[in-house]
Parts: sequence; C-alpha cells; structure tokens
Amino acid sequence: MRKKTLREVALDGKRVLVRVDFNVPLNPDLTVEDDGRLRASLPTIRYLRERGCRVILASHMDRPKGRVVEALRLDPAARRLAELLDCPVRKIDQCVGPEARDAVERLHPGEVLLLENLRFHPEEEANEPEFARRLAQLADVFVQDAFGVVHRQHASVVGVSAFLPAVAGFLLEKELAYLSEFLSEPPRPFLLVVGGAKVSDKIGVLKSLWRKVDEALVGGGLANTFLAASGLHMGSSLVETDALAVAGDLLREAAERGVQVHLPVDMVVAPEPREGVPRRAVPVDGMPDDWQALDIGPQTLREYEQVIARARSVFWNGPLGVFEVPGFEQGTYGVARAMAANPGLTVVGGGDATAAVRKAGVAERMSHLCTGGGAALKFLEGRELPGVACLEDAP
Ligand code: 3PG
Repeated sequence: MRKKTLREVALDGKRVLVRVDFNVPLNPDLTVEDDGRLRASLPTIRYLRERGCRVILASHMDRPKGRVVEALRLDPAARRLAELLDCPVRKIDQCVGPEARDAVERLHPGEVLLLENLRFHPEEEANEPEFARRLAQLADVFVQDAFGVVHRQHASVVGVSAFLPAVAGFLLEKELAYLSEFLSEPPRPFLLVVGGAKVSDKIGVLKSLWRKVDEALVGGGLANTFLAASGLHMGSSLVETDALAVAGDLLREAAERGVQVHLPVDMVVAPEPREGVPRRAVPVDGMPDDWQALDIGPQTLREYEQVIARARSVFWNGPLGVFEVPGFEQGTYGVARAMAANPGLTVVGGGDATAAVRKAGVAERMSHLCTGGGAALKFLEGRELPGVACLEDAP
C-alpha cells in the first residue's frame, strides 16, 4: 500500500513536526564528522520552509538510554544544519513541555526549530502514548523522514501518528523507492555484497535475499565464520562459533537456490587490528595460528572487482575488513571503487559501508547511499516497518 507523502497534505502555514535522523558521528571538538544524514534531510525541510511552515525537527542521537548525556545533545547538528540551510536553526534543550511549546509559539513562518535528543526520555523508546501526545501537541502535521529508525516502535516514530495526520517526507519516499527496486524486478545479474562482524545479525536478510540475488560476495568477520563453517582453520580471527551451524545452512541454502556465493581466497592477516603492525596476505588455507584476518586479500579483491563489473544491480551492506585502521582498508575501498565504476543500480546501506564509500571519495558515483542500515535490512527481509505502516494510506 502506497503511503501519503508531504505533497498530498495541506501544509501552508502549518506547524509541522518532522522526525529526522540526525544521529551523526561527531568529532572530538563536537563538530559533525559526517553530515550525510543532515544533507539528506534538506529537500523536506526546504520544501516546508517554502510553504511558510513552522518546521519543528525531532531526532535521536545515539543511545543515551533515557538519561541526559551532555555529549549527545543535538547542538552540533543544529549548527551544521544552519550552515547547510543558510538560515538560523533554533535549538532548545527540551523536546516536550513548556519550553518546547513556547519555542514553537515564537516560530515565524519558514523558521526552523530543532528539539533536544528524544532519547533523553525513556518514554521515547518505550513508545509511551503520553509522551507521543506531548510531542504531537507541538504541531498540526507529522512528517516521517527518519528512514534510519522506521524499524523502531518508538513514540516519535509510531506513537505520534495516533494524534496527527502522518505522512512520508522526501527522504523516506526516496529510500523506499530504491530499496523496492531490489524486491521487485532488479536488473540482473543482481549482486549482494555483504560484510560486517556477525552472521547472526544477517541471517534473516540473507535467507530472504537468497531468493532474489544471483551472486553474493562475502567479506569481514562474516566471511571468517563462513570459511570456518566450510572447515577452514581461521587462526585467531573473529569467528562467531555459535553461528557455525547456521552459516553452514545458509551456504547450503544458497547453493540449492542457485546463488553463487563467493568467499575470500586470501586474506590480509596481522597479530592485531592496529596501525603499523606487521601484516601480510595469505591464502585462506594458510592462516597463521596467532594472527587474525583483518581484510580480504589482493587476489580476492581482483575476483570481487570482476564480479562487481558484470553485475547490473548491486546492494552492499557491511565493510569487508577493519577499514578504519590504516593498512586494512584496501578490500573495502576497492569494492567501493568497483561499485562506483559500475553504471548500473548501486545502493549502499549501513553506517560503516556508507562511511567507507565517503572516505574512498566515491559517494557521488553511487546510485544511492541509504541513511539507515538496520531499517534497510529489515525492509529487504520483507518485514513490515512500523514507522511506515503507521502513515496515512494514499488514496
Ligand atoms: C542508525 O544509526 O542506524 C539510526 O540512527 C538508528 O539508530 P538505533 O539503531 O540506535 O535505533
């Protein structure tokens, strides 16, 4: 069922509560390190400003677990957003109550207010109706544009929709449009590139994507566990021993469905993931006892580049190695560059993979960078997203 978007409701001059995902990485000096999520929210905010709306932005930052954590205030996001919008963004230290109501009352048409981190209140994650009602009280219309949290059953994601007309913003609309392509008729061959630490986080999405993809490239800790499940000795690499049986089942299921799963043939190994330590590439059946696999090796990368070059649609989630540590980034950056060179549909999901794409300098050359990793995986698993389900249906 298609959901209403902000184009389909009367907005002129209204007070509009927009759920955004400003959960952005910060530098030690409290400036925004990666403003991708702020930039992604601009089309919706600009559209509302142009219609004379009073724009009330609400977001979480990290996981303060219901307590006020000074380092997780949203002031850095407000400062960066003001630069990007080239207009003042007022930030207050509350998200509900008299201070919030006052600030909204003082907003003029087209002005922007950012509320404080919603997760300073335990009621947010508990989806308490009273907290949702107090948030909703601030506005006339609710716009959901925080794709990164639509898989969460939180007050500002689901609860508010009981009190206000609730519609999708432009970012949410765009994210769902790209991901839906993979679930309907993706151009083939359709390739999945998957990495990250754990198999157990990805069981659901892998099971469901085996029904869709033609080939898969595996890296990161995930590859270690798959290789161990195939009987290889992985030295002191990160291996999820509890998931060996399920990893074996996933490989068998993929083979039965005719999905070609590529595992690394060589790995970059080192005693520990630290800059400057000795490292070398070894074949996967020659893993030294006390060393860890920390990146895919050069031969694997060459093979993966070829597979990526012949794909016509690629979805990538999870880095292929410990790319944050210099010396172990080549596999992840190599995959990013190979995807960037592919003229087909290339979508990257998840904070780590999107950060890697930006660091590799190829963000502009992807079809789309998803702003939500967990939400994208849930969607591709075929699960209902509560933050989308609660929005008004389009006629
Ligand atoms: C994210 O960073 O993936 C989103 O902001 C959601 O954050 P969460 O996993 O803490 O709900």
